[in-house]
Amino acid sequence: MDEVRGHGVGPWEGDPPEDPVYDPELLAHGDTRNVIDRYRYWRMEAIVADLDARRHPFHVAIENWQHDMNIGSIVRSANAFLADTVHIIGRRRWNRRGAMVTDRYQHVVHHEDVAAFAAWARAEGIPILAVDNVGEAVPVDRAELPERCVLLFGQEGPGLSDEALAAASGHIEITQYGSTRSINASAAAAVVMYEWCRRHAG
Ligand SMILES: C[S@@+](CC[C@H](N)C(=O)[O-])C[C@H]1O[C@@H](n2cnc3c(N)ncnc32)[C@H](O)[C@@H]1O
Repeated sequence: MDEVRGHGVGPWEGDPPEDPVYDPELLAHGDTRNVIDRYRYWRMEAIVADLDARRHPFHVAIENWQHDMNIGSIVRSANAFLADTVHIIGRRRWNRRGAMVTDRYQHVVHHEDVAAFAAWARAEGIPILAVDNVGEAVPVDRAELPERCVLLFGQEGPGLSDEALAAASGHIEITQYGSTRSINASAAAAVVMYEWCRRHAG
């Protein structure tokens, strides 16, 4: 595989492999997608199927009442940390720019409002953990972080709504040391997903 354009590879050299996971177009013309080497030349559906077979049991959710720019970055991190699904609560449309096409490999579902999201979590028996620096939130390094859970994040500006905070059975914060009230929502999501993986990922 010849590396091209930073993270791509050129056309397959020699006899192309016959395994159906491979995409004939990519084998013929090269693969410049931002995927790990294991998935070079793979069809997108084959990559998703492979990820589905080993997804982690944590979910990620974010409130979307203002078209928050962070949602794309959160989807990208959810892909990197192999979250089960990302749940968008509120507006159906979300800004995909920060996702850098990772949403093609990530299950993303929409809930009309917090009540619908909470009903889904209840039906699945998945605890909702609200991540925000509010009230009696427990620092993430000593908070309970069950294997099966949904990590719920708020938006830039308002943070989590009162309704979202009330729907959660646990409240988690990231300890800060400087003068700013909060960190960026997608940065917060990456920190907590990383902590989940540090504890549970094999
Ligand atoms: C910019 S914050 C806004 C709200 C924040 N509660 C405040 O007092 O300004 C947006 C989202 O990022 C996440 N976040 C930012 N900093 C955090 C922290 N230190 N601990 C936990 N979550 C944080 C939360 O999900 C929060 O809802």
